[in-house]
Amino acid sequence: MVFSILLLACQIAGGVVYNITTSEQLFPNKTLVSSGKIFELGFFTPNGSENQYVGIWYKNFTPSKIVWVANRNLPLVYTDRSAKLTIGSDGNLKLVDGQQNIVWSTNASGRSNDTSAALLDSGNFVLQDANYSEIWGSFNDPTDTLLPSMKIGVNAKTVEKKT
Ligand SMILES: *[C@@H]1O[C@H](CO)[C@@H](O)[C@H](O)[C@H]1NC(C)=O
Ligand SMILES: *[C@@H]1O[C@H](CO)[C@@H](O)[C@H](O)[C@H]1NC(C)=O
Ligand SMILES: *[C@@H]1O[C@H](CO)[C@@H](O)[C@H](O)[C@H]1NC(C)=O
Ligand SMILES: *[C@@H]1O[C@H](CO)[C@@H](O)[C@H](O)[C@H]1NC(C)=O
Ligand SMILES: *[C@@H]1O[C@H](CO)[C@@H](O)[C@H](O)[C@H]1NC(C)=O
Ligand SMILES: *[C@@H]1O[C@H](CO)[C@@H](O)[C@H](O)[C@H]1NC(C)=O
Repeated sequence: MVFSILLLACQIAGGVVYNITTSEQLFPNKTLVSSGKIFELGFFTPNGSENQYVGIWYKNFTPSKIVWVANRNLPLVYTDRSAKLTIGSDGNLKLVDGQQNIVWSTNASGRSNDTSAALLDSGNFVLQDANYSEIWGSFNDPTDTLLPSMKIGVNAKTVEKKT
């Protein structure tokens, strides 16, 4: 219930996107959804927490269940609304905080810099080259673990701040 309010807030605030490219960054006021609308990726704050993470959850599933978290060890503060998930000039995905510090990166080297990122209906978040061939995938990322402490709702205060 609380969580669907968040999704509603996201949609009112900024809507959804279907990929991240060098020209389309993902801010906390938007979410990335898979083409079949099964999974959703975006910024979230666990209930009662002051930390903000980028993660993947089932789009139409309550209570919400986070299945992957990018920056588990380096959370953003929940008030940081100018953090962004972006593609750098080297073609890697980067999570950048409001002070422009790189918090997390896919860090794949020696590959194409003409890349885009999308969320597949399998729940795999992929960075792909111009031929849609996978360079990096969240399924292969060591942080791809279920976090017991994050079967969560969302802090209602954060939702209010969003709008
Ligand atoms: C979303 O947030 C970004 C960064 O703060 C801002 O530039 C953009 O205008 C916002 N978009 C909407 C629709 O609120
Ligand atoms: C990103 O999504 C837009 C809109 O759905 C689409 O037109 C564009 O071709 C996509 N870009 C890539 C690189 O997949
Ligand atoms: C990709 O790398 C090539 C060669 O280093 C460079 O010319 C080009 O500007 C880069 N593209 C982007 C989008 O950064
Ligand atoms: C990126 O990879 C290099 C070489 O493997 C490593 O030294 C560096 O710590 C990595 N950076 C991040 C942010 O994972
Ligand atoms: C994409 O595929 C074409 C045709 O197979 C190939 O010439 C090109 O080098 C590929 N580009 C990348 C970035 O892998
Ligand atoms: C969030 O936390 C508040 C206060 O601890 C609690 O009342 C509420 O039920 C929690 N919501 C969810 C969805 O867990």
